[in-house]
Amino acid sequence: MATPIRHPYLPAQPPVLINRDAIARRVAEIGAEIDRDLAGESVLLVGVLKGAAIFLSDLARAINIQCTFDFVAVSSYGKGTRSSGAVKLIKDLDHPIEGRNIILVEDILDTGLTLSFLKRMLMQHRPRSLRVAALLDKPERRIEPLQAEYVGFSIPNHFVIGYGMDYAERFRNLPDICIFPPDAAD
Ligand code: PRP
Repeated sequence: MATPIRHPYLPAQPPVLINRDAIARRVAEIGAEIDRDLAGESVLLVGVLKGAAIFLSDLARAINIQCTFDFVAVSSYGKGTRSSGAVKLIKDLDHPIEGRNIILVEDILDTGLTLSFLKRMLMQHRPRSLRVAALLDKPERRIEPLQAEYVGFSIPNHFVIGYGMDYAERFRNLPDICIFPPDAAD
């Protein structure tokens, strides 16, 4: 386990699951992979608000091919409702995507319900290609059989905060990915 970090808003020092250096190395690798896969083409990164905002901003800077971005948001009625498959779009894309190479960018792929919904929705707009980049993947939680083309890290079923991920909207700004609550760590 990496060294715990201090943060003024945390009740205790949360255990670091993936530290900022490991994140930066992996994001650079994914950026290079995207450059290879889409060499000579352009890409539209579509971030899923809000958790993906920080991953998208780092990933965009790790990509050298022509790159633009857009954002969507889905309803967050809570995992209970989401598990029933009830995902609702609350912010649509700003621009048409027909004929574009799209990468849906997510902080975490959990049950897969959100990304399945978004993939189905985006495919209706006939993109040239559609891929998924998920910084974290919790395969044991999957309900929809969905695999991301680009995965940062596969993790066990911990509740994680930091690097965009929240607990009650807080802690998204932690630079490392941490386990929350701190005493939930093994
Ligand atoms: C998280 C994450 C994904 C979704 C993944 O969003 O950002 O969008 O859950 O879960 P799933 O695979 O089970 O559908 P959250 O609802 O926490 O909203 P946020 O991005 O605003 O934090």
